[in-house]
Amino acid sequence: MTEIRRVGVLGCGLMGSGIAQACATAGYETVVREVSEELISRGMDAIARGLQRAVEKDRMSAAERDRALERITATIELTDLAGCDLVIEAVVEDLEVKNSLWRELEGICAEDAIFASNTSSLPISEMAASLRRPDRLVGLHFFNPVAMMPLVEVARTIATDPSVFETAVAFARSLGKETIECKDRSGFVVNLLLVPFMMDAIRAVEQGVASIEDIDRAMRLGAGHPMGPLALCDFVGLDTLDRIGEIMFREYREKRYASPPLLKRMVALGYVGKKAGRGFYDYTKEPVEPVGGIGPGS
Ligand code: CAA
Ligand code: NAD
Repeated sequence: MTEIRRVGVLGCGLMGSGIAQACATAGYETVVREVSEELISRGMDAIARGLQRAVEKDRMSAAERDRALERITATIELTDLAGCDLVIEAVVEDLEVKNSLWRELEGICAEDAIFASNTSSLPISEMAASLRRPDRLVGLHFFNPVAMMPLVEVARTIATDPSVFETAVAFARSLGKETIECKDRSGFVVNLLLVPFMMDAIRAVEQGVASIEDIDRAMRLGAGHPMGPLALCDFVGLDTLDRIGEIMFREYREKRYASPPLLKRMVALGYVGKKAGRGFYDYTKEPVEPVGGIGPGS
């Protein structure tokens, strides 16, 4: 197995910031790359807030928080990932964006570096096919919020080297995560089951079955979910969910994965969820309330 000391993280959005935080907390030297200084600073603020939350919840001391922050280098230069033993990508859910990064990284990282994708829905093989060394690529699918969700799905392709897969499993466990092994199928296990549920909740809004709040209350109070499906859509990001739906629909040709028109309209208008301040709910209001004009009775 490859020894992992230095980890590169591509993207410092919702997932990249959580993954970088988890790596640094576990003791890995971590290099996180974004596309602009502004996004770097926003991502590093999210990491600092996440670590501070852990201190407040007594999950780490202030000294451990500071050491974790010192282990993180933020950059806009891809070449700064040259010394990384493992690179995890968490950039937008777009095959071309991911593949062009992998191709560039192959010219930057060592021959035996391991590449891992945090994709929600793209088949790992479609990325492996663009690499000179498809045997070095594996899927490492984390969940949002990374600090709280114990699972990582580890997916191998037909071409993945068994020792790369074993290293990826051991790495995820070293972050304190539990792992499941899955085939390289779009959505792996969790999204195969969760995405149709979220899309059905949006279709229920479109059909006027109940109000946004009542659909969410129904699933929290009647089915024991920690958050309702529409709040979860906002949490994941409606732009990301829309991309996932399109990719999974293309893979399976089943309507249940397809993005409903309402989702597309909301993305077009910038109602992309919590990260933008509004989606099904308005997060600028205290307490948060459903956005008017979307569901019945609102
Ligand atoms: N980041 C880090 N920690 C967070 C957090 C965040 N954004 N939000 C809440 N937490 C922590 C809190 O600090 C708290 O920790 P303690 O238990 O140590 O006190 C704990 O989570 C519970 O927080 P709260 O009491 O404030 O809130 P909650 O009970 O509503 O829990 C939640 C928040 C953990 C997010 C919970 O609502 C939950 O599990 N929701 C479902 C999340 C989910 O389904 N994620 C998967 C999304 S799909 C995906 O990720 C895959 C994909 O490819 C799209
Ligand atoms: P996000 O929009 O919050 O962040 C993506 C970040 O990638 C942006 O900040 C963007 O600037 C950056 N980026 C784009 N091109 C880049 C490049 N060439 N180099 C470096 N950074 C680049 O999205 P997210 O929710 O963090 O999703 C990222 C990935 O994780 C996607 O593949 C998504 O499907 C997956 N994922 C998302 C969730 C979720 O709940 N949101 C959960 C699991 C997996």
